[in-house]
Amino acid sequence: MAAAANPFPEDFIWGTATASYQIEGAVREGGRGPSIWDTFSHTPGRVFAGQNGDVTCDHYHRWEEDLDHMARLGLQAYRFSTAWPRIQPGGVGRANQAGLDFYDKLVDGLLARGIRPVATLYHWDLPQALQDQGGWPARDTARRFADYAEIVAAALGDRVETYTTLNEPWCAAFLGHASGAHAPGITNPLAALKAAHHLNLAHGLAVQAVRAAAPGAQASVTLNLHVIRPATDSAEDADAARQVKAVGNEIFLGPMLEGVYPADLLEDLAPVTDFDFVESEDLTSINQPIDWLGVNYYSTSAARRRDGGRAGRTAGPPRVGPGGETAGTESSNGGHGPGNPWVGADCVEFLPPTGPLTDMGWNIDPPGLTELLVGMARRYPGLPLAVTENGSAFGDTLEPDGAVHDPDRIAYLESHVAAVAEAIAQGACVTGYYAWSLMDNFEWGHGYSRRFGLIYVDYANGQARHWKDSARRYQQLIAAQGRI
Ligand code: FCB
Repeated sequence: MAAAANPFPEDFIWGTATASYQIEGAVREGGRGPSIWDTFSHTPGRVFAGQNGDVTCDHYHRWEEDLDHMARLGLQAYRFSTAWPRIQPGGVGRANQAGLDFYDKLVDGLLARGIRPVATLYHWDLPQALQDQGGWPARDTARRFADYAEIVAAALGDRVETYTTLNEPWCAAFLGHASGAHAPGITNPLAALKAAHHLNLAHGLAVQAVRAAAPGAQASVTLNLHVIRPATDSAEDADAARQVKAVGNEIFLGPMLEGVYPADLLEDLAPVTDFDFVESEDLTSINQPIDWLGVNYYSTSAARRRDGGRAGRTAGPPRVGPGGETAGTESSNGGHGPGNPWVGADCVEFLPPTGPLTDMGWNIDPPGLTELLVGMARRYPGLPLAVTENGSAFGDTLEPDGAVHDPDRIAYLESHVAAVAEAIAQGACVTGYYAWSLMDNFEWGHGYSRRFGLIYVDYANGQARHWKDSARRYQQLIAAQGRI
């Protein structure tokens, strides 16, 4: 019998992803200015065990070794982020050449190894100086971001063909400004909505800036689209799921891809704001054609209307945050930031996740990834998709011989690669898969207590890198072009 055809196209891209603050360290080198994550992590009580990204994986110094690991893995692409405060230490003005030099040599090193660089311009490390002037709730930050995007695209555009404007603006807006679990740690629903809008605007202006500075480059954005299922088939629970998806997904998809804030979203949010911070040309500026959409996916959740429905609103955060990010729960934000990230949806609650969970407390639901990809492909025909993050945290043990046996992570990887294959078989145009993450790193509010890497980082022993079994499995998968 002939083997089933491999659904992954020949040119499907296998990569890994990281983010600047999570791996670089060297926070005071090369003229880098402070970011909101430096401030936040150095504020007592914000991050698990008072940890911070000052050193983390020390990638800033070990980048060559890390590139060699990528080459051994057989990676075809590497999704990294550029740190805005390395390139514009104060968030404005001329580029800091030393900051650009770091990414210059990183990009050259990738290309020399046959690995395609995929640059994300914002993975949450806003220059502190811009925060001091209002941060994302202030409109001017969007303009500043476009200037920065132009600097990066002008410097790297002859070698980097693909740019992603923002990583997960939902987290930046709502974990940063509503629940307060992420930097800058604000708990103000109106500030969160302004931040969301200015992130949208930043995206649109940055797409234009990238296209002007690097004609021919591809532009994209990465969203953590929440897969939310109604807890029951009641109309109330269907509406609860709709409401969460509106403020979790549509608040970005609408403006970026359709040029509107949907009417139901505006209605849900009317008690908080009338969106008077949206200026007349904004939606046109935001709604720029993009070349592909990045999707980060980790898990799913189920939502229901709280007892009493709209009339019986009760205060307080949902019990469990939907997948893909830390939400405003006790466990996920270290007990700080008591706010609710689900602005306008405070009569919605989430069911506790079921089944085996990862160390993040997130459920493992590969069909959710298929559902998400197929749903987006049907909704936006002609817009290619890429899975720009997917992975799992488990408690790893480094054996005396340097091995790390992580069968749970391997199972997660295989089942999600199979879920992507299924989406392609159902007709979705998916062009790449980027495992989160190349190596263990600083997991935001959780510090170093969660390990997502394919490669184990022995922080206590000179940040030594050790391949986990999952790294070997990914190496095989790449070599077999996804054939499990
Ligand atoms: C995503 C972030 C990424 C990492 C993973 C686990 O929300 O983009 O930096 O923290 O979750």
